[in-house]
Amino acid sequence: MSNLMEVIKSRRSTRAFKSELPPKDQIMKIVEAAEWAPSGMGKYLWHFTVIYNAEKSLKLARAVAEADNRGPQYNFYGAPVNIIISYKRDEHHALVDGAAAMENLLLMATELGLGSCWINQLRETCDVPEVRALLTEYGVPEDHIVVCSAAIGYIEKETPAKPRHEGLVSITE
Ligand SMILES: Cc1cc2nc3c(=O)[nH]c(=O)nc-3n(C[C@H](O)[C@H](O)[C@H](O)COP(=O)(O)O)c2cc1C
Repeated sequence: MSNLMEVIKSRRSTRAFKSELPPKDQIMKIVEAAEWAPSGMGKYLWHFTVIYNAEKSLKLARAVAEADNRGPQYNFYGAPVNIIISYKRDEHHALVDGAAAMENLLLMATELGLGSCWINQLRETCDVPEVRALLTEYGVPEDHIVVCSAAIGYIEKETPAKPRHEGLVSITE
């Protein structure tokens, strides 16, 4: 097992991906890591929808761009794989559970040498009819909202680390 702190510190938000698909077993390992995240009250009311297809990923990006008034360059950074984390609608823990699953997913992608980026736009656009139609076609349950999604693939361009702020920790003994 690799050093967890090294993996945590080397994770970056990749914003330029190669078009080749990583092996499917690696993607499924990433999803497995997400499934092992903690979930409030042990409910696990999430669903993971894997888009393992560059054309389908781009089609969804185009629909989101249209719904969110983004320009023609909006393409999930060219990632051929997208993993959508959705959660049963009106559940109190949806956002926090989804975020916990997302972090596991991003760290496993890093561990496997893949790039990843948290994508937030499906959260606001998942109920726009054109976006919802594609989500349903790709496997997102109809009674779910999207919490977030992750763009995944081989890194085309490295992202430099952003410095972390000082003074954000208090300890009382
Ligand atoms: C809640 C949340 C939403 C985010 N949404 C996006 C997004 O839509 N697009 C994007 O490029 N990055 C997104 N990010 C990534 C952040 O911009 C990124 O984590 C931050 O700039 C720090 O860089 P690092 O991830 O390389 O450490 C999101 C991160 C979080 C936690």
